[in-house]
Amino acid sequence: MPHPVRVLPSLLSADFAHLADELARCAAAGAKSLHVDVMDAHFVPNLTIGPFIVEAMRRSTDLHLDVHLMMTDPLRYVDDFRKAGADAITIHVEAVGPRSMAQAIDRVRATGAQVGLAFNPDTNPELWLPHLARVDLAMFMTVYPGFGGQAFIPQVRPYIRAVRAALPNLAIQVDGGINRETIPLVIADGADRLGCGNAFFKDKDPAGFLAWAEAQGT
Ligand code: DX5
Ligand code: ZN
Repeated sequence: MPHPVRVLPSLLSADFAHLADELARCAAAGAKSLHVDVMDAHFVPNLTIGPFIVEAMRRSTDLHLDVHLMMTDPLRYVDDFRKAGADAITIHVEAVGPRSMAQAIDRVRATGAQVGLAFNPDTNPELWLPHLARVDLAMFMTVYPGFGGQAFIPQVRPYIRAVRAALPNLAIQVDGGINRETIPLVIADGADRLGCGNAFFKDKDPAGFLAWAEAQGT
């Protein structure tokens, strides 16, 4: 395991009527990074957060902001999200396609943010290994993106194992249906970053959940 296991609370499950309180709750629970789901109502059938909200988050937390762009045209917005305060920006390989991927990575890198590539559950990452070798993060969707609270898709597990075997030092994040049952499985496969929406925010003791989850990596 190249990096210690970290839980990233996925703010899609937070109470947006009390956003500053929710960000403070994440920090108090021990989170170091927060996962922000940007959905454009085109790449996925839901519409969520724009740069304006990321900028508001940035004003009320010092935590690392991990921005997940579920967008058909992510490159059009990467500068705006970076200016708003994104520390890491992840784009979907399905949105960019193989021919434009090298340039797309350069484009995100030029913003100064860390660069991630995300994979839908039925995308085989093996074809994308040369690109993964140039980025900071692989993000495996373990649900079809669009909504929190869905069930984990176990068919993604061999893909996680293949990328971990090929790139031992790459940060590997999982996103969707990550909870007390699935965390031991994905850590065994090689994931070291856990995006957790419902499992974190609906727990009576989020700090206890986070400590438990991170300890599964040791
Ligand atoms: C799904 C999002 C996830 C989601 C995870 O499209 O990208 O980040 O918020 O939520 P849970 O952990 O509840 O499945
Ligand atoms: Zn996400």
